[in-house]
Amino acid sequence: FSRALKPVASVAVQNGAKFSTTSQKNFKVVVAGAAGGIGQPLALLLKQNPLVTRLALYDIAPVTPGVAVDLSHMDTPAQVTGHKGPEELAAAVECADLVVIPAGVPRKPGMTRDDLFNTNASIVRDIADCVAKNAPKAIMAIITNPVNSMVPIASEVLKKAGVYDPAKVLGVTTLDVVRAAAFIGEINGVDPTTVKIPVIGGHSGVTIIPVLSQSSPAVKLSDQGKIEALTKRIQEAGTEVVKAKAGGGSATLSMAYAGARLACAVLRGLKGESNVVECAYVKSDLTEASYFANPVQLGRNGVEKNLGFGQLNAYEKELLKAAIPELLKNIKTGENFVNK
Ligand code: NAD
Ligand code: LMR
Repeated sequence: FSRALKPVASVAVQNGAKFSTTSQKNFKVVVAGAAGGIGQPLALLLKQNPLVTRLALYDIAPVTPGVAVDLSHMDTPAQVTGHKGPEELAAAVECADLVVIPAGVPRKPGMTRDDLFNTNASIVRDIADCVAKNAPKAIMAIITNPVNSMVPIASEVLKKAGVYDPAKVLGVTTLDVVRAAAFIGEINGVDPTTVKIPVIGGHSGVTIIPVLSQSSPAVKLSDQGKIEALTKRIQEAGTEVVKAKAGGGSATLSMAYAGARLACAVLRGLKGESNVVECAYVKSDLTEASYFANPVQLGRNGVEKNLGFGQLNAYEKELLKAAIPELLKNIKTGENFVNK
């Protein structure tokens, strides 16, 4: 399976004229942290994606090869390989189109996402370093917390290696969008999959900004107090799960669902599908913060177009004002970790 073999060429006929199109439909996806609470159900969902023909599962946990064998018995096309320990990471990422990273520790009650920085920073740095050396063209989708700092870490590592492409490093904020849609669906009494709602900023506390004024359909809440309570619930939804799991970790299943959705969107973009849009935390010049989440259009090279965040109402402008200093701090912490 070399990259050279991948593109599937076809000849199309339109109005009597022949032209050839090239559309890659067979992608290699890596899950780094594949044996964990998110990694396993994420791998389960990716194994069912027809665009995934190779699924490489990497983790330091001894069970990793077993997880790969287990999934390989599913009757879907993706070929699954297991890779355990740092010495097998290079083989896992080689020729990858997309590397999804949920490797690292999750929160326990009473912790903030920033409390995970000391443990998770070196994990993401080392994985990014291996991707830089062995799959420099791969897209990286980072789930590991704190996302606001992990994306700058991966970006600085790629810069140092001379292979940084800002279009190819994404922080996964899809779960915030999924949650916002779930809660709005419940409030409005509609199917949540029909709700369109941008969530911008970053992925922690005050940096999570659901733009409720742009919800489609409009949120059926009349007074500002209820809008603020819904905003707070979306911002604190991760903590809601951490508390409910009572020391057993943070969101895993909803995150796997959200991660698979983002991964699928990236692959549809790589395949050449048009109008593939998801929110993601990416390199940005829209605000003072050099990384920022909002809807982006995904294409053959990763982030094709930053779609911005449109008009905010007065309340949302206040939320943005509160988010920026926190984002600046998180970004600096990540960059300093690599550049010391
Ligand atoms: P988990 O502990 O269940 O799984 C983490 C996995 O990472 C484990 O299998 C572990 O062996 C592996 N791991 C640890 N160090 C590694 C390394 N150096 N290389 C490869 N793998 C390594 O945790 P989880 O619940 O799956 O959460 C993982 C991360 O995702 C946490 O940091 C959590 O905060 C984050 N998270 C992010 C979001 C989001 O919306 N972005 C949502 C939920 C969780
Ligand atoms: C989430 O939003 O569920 C994740 O970021 C995990 C967490 O620590 O809350």
